[in-house]
Order: sequence, then C-alpha cells, then structure tokens
Amino acid sequence: MAAAQQAQAGGRGSRHLIGRCLRNHWCLMAFPVTRLRRLRRTDQLRNLVRETRLTPDAFVYPMFVCAGEGVRKEVRSMPGVFNLSVDEAVKEAREVHSLGVPSVILFGLPDKKDEVASGAWADDGIVQQAARALKREVPDLIVMGDVCLCEYMSHGHCGIVKASPQSLGAAARDAMNTVRVVAVRSSEEKAKAIEAATSPLVAHASQTNYEIDNDASLELLARTSVSLARAGIDIIAPSDMMDGRVAAIRRALDEASFTNTPILSYAAKFASGFYGPFREAADSAPQFGDRRSYQMDGANLREAMREIELDIEEGADMIMVKPAMPYLDVIAAARDRFDLPLAAYQVSGEYAMIEAAARNGWIERDRVMMESLLSIRRAGASIILTYHAKDAARLLA
Ligand code: PBG
Repeated sequence: MAAAQQAQAGGRGSRHLIGRCLRNHWCLMAFPVTRLRRLRRTDQLRNLVRETRLTPDAFVYPMFVCAGEGVRKEVRSMPGVFNLSVDEAVKEAREVHSLGVPSVILFGLPDKKDEVASGAWADDGIVQQAARALKREVPDLIVMGDVCLCEYMSHGHCGIVKASPQSLGAAARDAMNTVRVVAVRSSEEKAKAIEAATSPLVAHASQTNYEIDNDASLELLARTSVSLARAGIDIIAPSDMMDGRVAAIRRALDEASFTNTPILSYAAKFASGFYGPFREAADSAPQFGDRRSYQMDGANLREAMREIELDIEEGADMIMVKPAMPYLDVIAAARDRFDLPLAAYQVSGEYAMIEAAARNGWIERDRVMMESLLSIRRAGASIILTYHAKDAARLLA
C-alpha cells in the first residue's frame, strides 16, 4: 500500500507513515522544520502576524427612529437595541460617534402606514426629521438612509401590491360558481348586495394572488431617495430588491442635483429567516405572503453575482451582501470579482442568536461577537453593518 493510502486508512498505517517521514528527506522541508505554532506563542507574536484586523471605522450602526419625545423602547427580541424618538436618536448618535464608529443607518417607524408608503417620501417623514437633527447635532457622522417601502406600507411588502389580473379572473369564475339568489327591493340594496358578495372575494384574491408591482414601485423608491437626500442623508441604501431601482434612484438623484450622493446598494439580499427580529423592531412583517418573489433564493451564488453586476452597471457606488454569516461564501466571491467597496449586513437574527445564547450562559458573548465580525471581515467585507457596532468598538478601543 502506498504511504498516502496508508495515511488515509489511518490507525497503524499513519504511524508507519510518520516513521518513514522522519527518515525521508522530502519530509524535512515540512515538520519538524516548519512549526506553525512558533508564531502563535505569545500575544505579541500573534498580533504581529495577524492577517485581518477589525477597526471601529468599518462599522455602521443601524438605528430605528420613531415619533414622540424621550422614547427609548427596547426591542423584545433584540436586547440592547431600541426604538428611539428623534431626540434620543441624537443622543445615541453622539455616543456612536464618540466610540469611533463613523456611520449610522436609519430605519423609520411611521405614525401611519398606507398603500403608497407616504411616510417613506414625505418631507416631514420620521427618517427625514431624524436626518436633519443628526446632521445638525453630529455633523461629522455619516448618515445612511435605508430606502425601502415595507415599514411604510399597511401590508408590509417592499413595493406596491396589486392583485394579479389572472387571479381576479379566477376569483370571478369562483363567484359565478357560487351564485346565490338575493332578493333586492331598490338599486341601493342591489349595490350593497353586490358589494357584500364580491368584496370578500376581491380581498381574498388580492391576498392570496397578488404581485409586487416592480415598475410602479421604482417611482416611489426614487421619490423617497430624493426626499432623504434633501433631508441631509449622506448615502442612499436601497434594500427593496426591485429590478432597476439603482438606475431609477441614480437618475432621480441626478435630476434633483444630488450628483454627489452615493448609492450603497443592498445588491445581493437573500430572503432570510434571519430578518425575524428586525421585522419586530421596524414593525414591517408582511401581512400576507412572504418576500421570496423579490428577495433572492438562498441557494444561488451565481445569481447573486448577476444581481451585483447589474447594480454596478446601473450606477451603484458600493455593494452589499446580506445577511452576513450564513452567506460568507457570497461575500468572498463578490470580493474576488468586484472592485467596489463591499459591505455586509450582520442582521437582526445573527445579533439575536448571539445575545440569546450568551444570556443563557451557553457562549462567551464578547468572544463570539468579535469572532463573527472578524469572519465577515476575513471573507472580504470592508464595511460591516452591525447592531454590535458600539460594543465591538468599546472592546477595540
Ligand atoms: C427592509 C429591510 C429589512 C432589513 C433591512 N432592510 C427587512 C426585510 O427585508 O425583511 C433586515 C435587517 C435585519 O434583519 O437586521 N426591507
């Protein structure tokens, strides 16, 4: 049996191999001449040869802004993360900045939601108010604005929802099949009877057979981006996953003379269970269906490269992969292939898992926190959006 095969077989074979290895010259090039442990002996040596370093200036801290004053409401599934009124957000932003974290990204909880996401693009929208206050009070902090409609839509989807025409047809056919005879005495009663017979059907159809209208949503996303830029947002970060949105946003920003406002595109955003706690924090869970018809399928690496490529062609200045830890291979492939600044989002579920396990005493929180951030950096992300930004920055100080 050849030595290599014996080694594979293990047991007696591998002991035999080591014996031969020590006598044979080919092996002298490796063990014991090469001892990788030499450079692991002390803290100083390990530090000297460290390949990847974490620094607070890679971090972006996400914040959830809500109406009111003095509001600081902890998110149940994200201990340490709060819904903040604008005044509290300013305090938080000062702290973030003083810890050496250069940037925050804002999400809004509007007072009212509707079918056209008015709260996203209103000039007195909650994020617009917060942006003005933050840029006034902490001018050196880079303020990013997440551009999406889900937090502002009554149905919680990231775009305009329309019933698909085919399904309304199907609904009508169903209606014909269940015709009931109703006696009416006046045209008013007739109208009421028709309404009573059809409205549950239409509601049912629009909830089970609906579509997110891509092109109609672009107009609202572009409008939102211009409104945010006007309020002082430094970087526009679209997270909606509509096709063509980077081009639409770039065009609208340029037309409104915001030619210098960069776009950080959530280019490869996967439909993920790891967003669960965020949907509580931002009150943005879809009321029906899920986001799989617009966010990416977690199985697809090559498609992620196409998403990124398209966003770059459309004018993205920076690209993002999200979530981070379950998609480190996507981060690494993107780093390999594209030369734009690359961000990764360590999302709410990643944060919540670490916090929950630590609270149970099952893991060492700080250690796992730093290890997970380091892994994201090592995979190739130069910018990390993370709810751990403040605590990690404190440890790095
Ligand atoms: C908005 C948006 C989401 C996140 C960022 N922007 C939620 C979603 O797509 O459902 C998730 C962030 C997180 O989980 O921390 N579309």
